Amino acid sequence: MIKVGLAVGEKDFAPYADWLRVHPQIEYLEAERRAEAEILLYTPESDLMDFRPFSQLRYVQSLWAGVEKLLGNSTLSAPICRLVDEGLSQGMREYCLAYILSDMYRLPEFARARTWTPQELPLAAYRTVAIVGCGVLGQSVGRALQNLNFQVIGWSRSEKSLPFAHEYGEENLHKVLNMADYVITLLPATKETEQIINAEFLAHMKPNSLLINPGRGSLLDENALLMALKNAEIRGAVLDVFAVEPLPDAHQFWQEDRILITPHIAAKSRFETAIAVVDENFQRFARNQPLRYQVSREQGY
Ligand code: NDP
Ligand code: OXD
Repeated sequence: MIKVGLAVGEKDFAPYADWLRVHPQIEYLEAERRAEAEILLYTPESDLMDFRPFSQLRYVQSLWAGVEKLLGNSTLSAPICRLVDEGLSQGMREYCLAYILSDMYRLPEFARARTWTPQELPLAAYRTVAIVGCGVLGQSVGRALQNLNFQVIGWSRSEKSLPFAHEYGEENLHKVLNMADYVITLLPATKETEQIINAEFLAHMKPNSLLINPGRGSLLDENALLMALKNAEIRGAVLDVFAVEPLPDAHQFWQEDRILITPHIAAKSRFETAIAVVDENFQRFARNQPLRYQVSREQGY
């Protein structure tokens, strides 16, 4: 039997604990014995900060895609596997599409106007969406948009084989931003990506374009965004993630009509789909096979 512990928030506790309790190869460790765990299932909603007592830990299975909190914890040296899961990808696709389609069809405007004002609205084929960060989620969103006939242009740091047009390398980021009606940022929080959405980035977007950031709050220079809106350099922003979460009540973003705030809901990790990924890695560990989706400490994601 392999000893497994849980360090998750309240909402995730019951389904994972129930699953662990009945798993034939697992000894589930309740809270008081959790530090004996060989494998720990983790979300950042857990209050676990000190990993030093976990002397037998062989890996941490994150139930989130973003692992910056684990990587930033100096008491943890065990390998970390992040979540790559179709449920997360589907959530992210739906989140981005929901906003873009509603914006293209001006639904919020019609809802407010309540008058008969027909307009000719461009089809997806005439709209360009830039995907900044073409990892698992970026590619999934890009493909979904492409299937709906959008012009998709990706940007990645290294050359990739992607089903949609893309540029790579720092020198080409501005070119991509310049082309887009919508810019979606799906980068992880690392030293290199910190405040990548800065004044220069925003200045290269089109004046009528929208920024959609479901990546991480650390990607955005908040003052630069407020300034870009003030100077009408972009039309607006949809933000799901923030430097401080929950976004404080006094934050200026709440006062800005052109910023749509969602409370970090773009793509939630869902037990129903995540559990297969967790179990697959568990089986690999049990058979001494390499773990999937292991994070690189060097790269920071
Ligand atoms: P991946 O690791 O699959 O993709 C990350 C991509 O970012 C990779 O393609 C990587 O490039 C690229 N990248 C990393 N650093 C840089 C850089 N400095 N410059 C350019 N590109 C860079 O992650 P996912 O797609 O699964 O997730 C992305 C992020 O989305 C997560 O880290 C998390 O922060 C966020 N997220 C948000 C959610 C929400 O609800 N709001 C839900 C889930 C995730 P390369 O391929 O070359 O390595
Ligand atoms: C994640 C998230 O990283 O929900 O999975 O933000």
